[in-house]
Amino acid sequence: MAMLKDKKIVLGVTGGIAAYKAVEVASRLRKAGAEVHVIMTKGATNFVTELTFREISGNPVTTTMWGEVTQWNVEHIALANLADMVLIVPATANLIAKAACGMADDMLTTTLLATKAPIVYAPAMNSNMYTNPLTQENISKLNNLGWNMIPPASGHLACGINGVGRLPEPVDIVAFVENYFAKTASMAGLKVLVTAAGTYEPIDPVRYIGNRSSGKMGYAIAREAKKRGAEVILVSGPSALTPPEGVRTIKIESASSMREAVLAEYPSVDIVIKAAAVADYRVKNVSDHKIKKKDEELVLHLEKNPDILKELGELKQKQTLVGFAAETQKLIDYAKEKIQKKNLDMIIANDVSKPGAGFNTDTNIIKIITRDGNIEELPMASKDSLAGEILDRVMKLR
Ligand code: PMT
Repeated sequence: MAMLKDKKIVLGVTGGIAAYKAVEVASRLRKAGAEVHVIMTKGATNFVTELTFREISGNPVTTTMWGEVTQWNVEHIALANLADMVLIVPATANLIAKAACGMADDMLTTTLLATKAPIVYAPAMNSNMYTNPLTQENISKLNNLGWNMIPPASGHLACGINGVGRLPEPVDIVAFVENYFAKTASMAGLKVLVTAAGTYEPIDPVRYIGNRSSGKMGYAIAREAKKRGAEVILVSGPSALTPPEGVRTIKIESASSMREAVLAEYPSVDIVIKAAAVADYRVKNVSDHKIKKKDEELVLHLEKNPDILKELGELKQKQTLVGFAAETQKLIDYAKEKIQKKNLDMIIANDVSKPGAGFNTDTNIIKIITRDGNIEELPMASKDSLAGEILDRVMKLR
């Protein structure tokens, strides 16, 4: 439990029946050495008293933005600034929806919007509310920003039905918090460069040649590296995704502009992970004006783009260099060839013809191959969790 010693945890308690379990969470955190500051929503005060949390946490409890200021640190963003983590137990559907919309209509939501500290949500609610697409969309919005959800447990719910939506046990919530701090220390001091999404190669001012990469794989890696304490630079082709919080994102369009951005950052980084789908060819004579429809056929001449990863391999000094291989056949043979040709330390091979793998899916199926020829096959999993698996292997290599 040493991980929690002197950590300042702002515990947000919202109005759900599981609010009583937040008392045990506060108690366990305090016993583990953390400094606990509780913010209760108005709804939460219907379930547990302010006095209970004051006694258990040993600190004043905040329930409103409008009360008399009794000490310096109860002004409206003081807790946001002081926190090493904001932990919401339980997180109701309402709180999650407000957080996902950036609302700030009470002390807890104001703190969530103002804080730079990591935020961990422990959702608890009726199963139908939890599985409702609106709640799921709000959860993924918060996940994509890099915030953390402790998955709810399944079982008997206070509303009388069995299903998903139970608050995990306080001991598990505290273990999650402890692991979180252990993980965030694991890549501290490292600078990581991730590339993501596809490139657009212009044909004329309105048209381009592109590919189906959404950026999901690369963004997941950037987000996870940031969570683990690394300084992260994300060089991204066009993507509809919101860049993760705290990650320096450089938006580019073509392979040439990706090359420029990557080479400029390369000397100072420790780890490069190239998840981007870079176009191998570009149009030779890009038209200055929109090409008019005249002939039955239009012939475009393509020329080779620079192979950015190969160039990084040639320039490599201290960097750990990780590539991806997107193949539809001979996955391992081609991936191994790329390790040698591009001087990589590791390659993540995905057969992009398999359902649930590759482009624009939330999941992937990968094989992790290292320079010494070791191959590890991972079962289908979310890109978020595979990002963690990839970083675990990268850290083992260093
Ligand atoms: O973005 P998503 O929708 O989540 O999809 C994820 C993904 C399928 C794009 C990802 O998992 C993936 O496989 N990325 C690599 C795609 C690719 O371009 O693979 P490749 O085998 O053609 O290239 C091999 C490696 O060389 C890649 O690391 C690539 O970034 C790099 N490369 C390729 C060509 C080039 N001109 N320069 C490069 O740096």
